[in-house]
Amino acid sequence: MKYKAGFCQFKPEFMAKEKNLETMVNLVSKTKADLIVFPELATSGYTFINLSEVEQVAETFQKGLTYIVMKKAAWDNNCSIVLGFVEEDAGNFYNSAMLINPDGSSYLYRKTHLFLHEKSFFSPGDTGFQVFPAKNNIKIGIMICFDWIFPEAARSLMLNGAQIIAHPANLVLPWCQQAMLTRSIENRVFTITANRTGVEKNNSLSNAFTGQSQITSPLGERLLQADDSSQITGIFDIFPEIADNKSVTAMNDLITDRRQKYYHS
Ligand code: ACM
Repeated sequence: MKYKAGFCQFKPEFMAKEKNLETMVNLVSKTKADLIVFPELATSGYTFINLSEVEQVAETFQKGLTYIVMKKAAWDNNCSIVLGFVEEDAGNFYNSAMLINPDGSSYLYRKTHLFLHEKSFFSPGDTGFQVFPAKNNIKIGIMICFDWIFPEAARSLMLNGAQIIAHPANLVLPWCQQAMLTRSIENRVFTITANRTGVEKNNSLSNAFTGQSQITSPLGERLLQADDSSQITGIFDIFPEIADNKSVTAMNDLITDRRQKYYHS
């Protein structure tokens, strides 16, 4: 089945949730797609320096403004949407992503591997690497940004049946875009990395984000890549069922050839 999937790369404004949501709704309405992935912490920006800032933009999953606004956008545009947001649950804060489908169903992932100063504000995610149904029952796994450096994240999503890995990101290190080609090859999955752009300063902290959002294929092709600074939407026609075939040669299969007893857990 042909599936129009891709990313919206943009520069969220720090602490300006309503404005960022307006930008995102506008981007979705201009795009014909079955699945759109937005960056990590797309509604809030990234460079927090105290807990009070985190609290101000935090939302309860399936209750907050982001959920209400983006659920409507998914319905209006008949499109599944993945986006990063600050989640609050039982007094804990998580760097989370939600998947919202046009039929109103929604799913949550909490970032497992926190990066640098995120450890000062967020609790490590406890949802694990689940796979969720998106529009047309396509199987979507979600991981967030720094999860990329742990191959176990993508591997777990693949073993759970993901056809597409949606990867909201706020990348600052130079290696991820290259590494995701390998994640695609070693797991035979599509990946969509939606990165943000721009420099974000908050007092003494400053982050320069690398853009270059991309879509990769199970055969290790980079199907599409943005530049490092533009606000840009990239959509590609993919065939998700290609990811169901884990055969590398006539005698090698990525799942049945595994030798788990020799792997360190
Ligand atoms: C990152 O995980 N946002 C670098």
